[in-house]
Amino acid sequence: MTRPTLKSRLFFFLFALLAGLGGGGVAGLEERPCTVHSSDGSYYDLNPLSASKDYDITTPGGHRIILNVCRSVQEETWNLKVDDPKDVAGFIRRDHGDFSIGKTNTTLVMQPDNEGPQLTMRDGSRCTSKSGATQDSTASTTILFTCDTSVFGAGKPQLLWSAPEDEDEACSWLIQWKTHYACPRGERGGIWGFFTFVAVIILLLLTLYLTLGTLYNRYALKLRGFDQLPQFSIEGAKYHVQEMWDVARDADWREVFEG
Ligand SMILES: *[C@@H]1O[C@H](CO)[C@@H](O)[C@H](O)[C@H]1NC(C)=O
Repeated sequence: MTRPTLKSRLFFFLFALLAGLGGGGVAGLEERPCTVHSSDGSYYDLNPLSASKDYDITTPGGHRIILNVCRSVQEETWNLKVDDPKDVAGFIRRDHGDFSIGKTNTTLVMQPDNEGPQLTMRDGSRCTSKSGATQDSTASTTILFTCDTSVFGAGKPQLLWSAPEDEDEACSWLIQWKTHYACPRGERGGIWGFFTFVAVIILLLLTLYLTLGTLYNRYALKLRGFDQLPQFSIEGAKYHVQEMWDVARDADWREVFEG
């Protein structure tokens, strides 16, 4: 088998670069942490609620629930029995120790009625029965975020419901949080995001031009030193584009993929 020629190498390089760009573009379409798009295209971003200070709820029975949004709690926990204490999104302070109400999660989904974003945190502490025996199921909590432009600041989470009814046995919680941060907002960036995108593309094309031009000058034209760098002139650009086109046209595809 013959060694791959310079042309086929260059062409393969170009091909890999384009494939990489395509892959990066697709990855960019995924939701960023703690944001979600509704089916009608509205955009929600709860990152501002992800605070360095935890939020507090007092239950009807007088227990404190401490929680954070899309990040683990900052407050010291006490006698918390979970595998990964760093990953606790919230806990309820009970007489014999803290009880995790769920693991940190940054994946928002839309509420079933599309009213706003919802955050579900599963895999908290193991539920216990009245006698104190641990069960197989683990604690979980859902927060329903509601858009409310009249609320100043972050707003306050409110406990809607917990089950089982006995607060020392409770193992799932439903919380409502009215806040203006749960209102649909413009994509971060907007027009500036577009300009950034264009700038990045131009930069990438320049890099590509510089790299391919230098490779070509060095190996095909056997230039050395500063002569290797492609010229930034319209003539130079035309020349290199023409060269790249020729390379692409003449490339031996079998060699590219098998060599
Ligand atoms: C995180 O949230 C997603 C969407 O609601 C859910 O499917 C997943 O189970 C959650 N993970 C944890 C560890 O809570």
